[in-house]
Formats: sequence, structure tokens, C-alpha cells
Amino acid sequence: MERWIERWGRNPLPGIHVYYWNTRQELVDSVLSGVRAIEPGVEAKDTQLVRSLARTVLTFGRMPLRGPFVPREEIDEIIVWIDAGMPEGPD
Ligand code: HEM
Repeated sequence: MERWIERWGRNPLPGIHVYYWNTRQELVDSVLSGVRAIEPGVEAKDTQLVRSLARTVLTFGRMPLRGPFVPREEIDEIIVWIDAGMPEGPD
């Protein structure tokens, strides 16, 4: 999101959905504009989190809205991490 804030010179509007997660659990529980970001048993590539970053989500377009978008290599890293069970990194 730093890239987005730098590009647009403002913080994203409050109240749409959260824009970052401080812990693994926050992401596990995350519901963005009424849509669960990830769900148990759903492969990473099919989660709304990954779909939103890679293509479009519902009718809203690719996230973060109007870019700059997350590069494909970073999306692939997210996919590998989710499918590995979202291991906690070192502190
Ligand atoms: C389940 C996945 C997601 C859903 C359903 C979702 C939904 C939405 C909706 C409904 C909007 C407002 C659209 C509008 O104003 O026309 C929005 C805006 C936005 N979303 Fe998402 N989103 C998702 C994932 C993400 C992710 C993963 C990010 C980045 C971390 C992100 C970043 C943003 C940003 C930056 C905006 C624009 C806020 C502004 O203009 O101030 N979204 N999203």
C-alpha cells in the first residue's frame, strides 16, 4: 500500500475495507467489503484476496484500485505462502 499512497498522494478512504493486516490471524479473519479474503479449503489462487490482486474482484476492478498493482512475482509468493499454510515468519 505504500506504493499506492505515494502514487495518489493520499491515504485510501476509510470505511471501504482494511488495507493491511498486522498479523496472520487478522488476514485469516478478514472480510473486505463483505467478501472473505481467504477461506479454509480454498486454494490460494482461487481466494478473493489473490483474485483481487491479479485480476478483478466482483465488479470493482483490480486491487489496489487504480494501481500501482502488485507484480506477478509477488502475487506468486503470496500464493505459495497461503498454500503452505501461511507460516509465521521470524519476528
Ligand atoms: C476480497 C477482496 C477485495 C474486495 C471485495 C474489495 C472491494 C473494494 C471496493 C468495493 C472498493 C471501493 C470501490 C469504489 O470506490 O468504486 C475498493 C477500493 C479499494 N481497494 Fe479493495 N477490495 C478487495 C481487496 C483489496 C486488496 C487486497 C487491496 C490492497 C491491499 C485493496 C485496495 C483497495 C484500494 C487502495 C481501494 C481504493 C480506496 C480509495 O480510493 O481511497 N483492495 N475495494
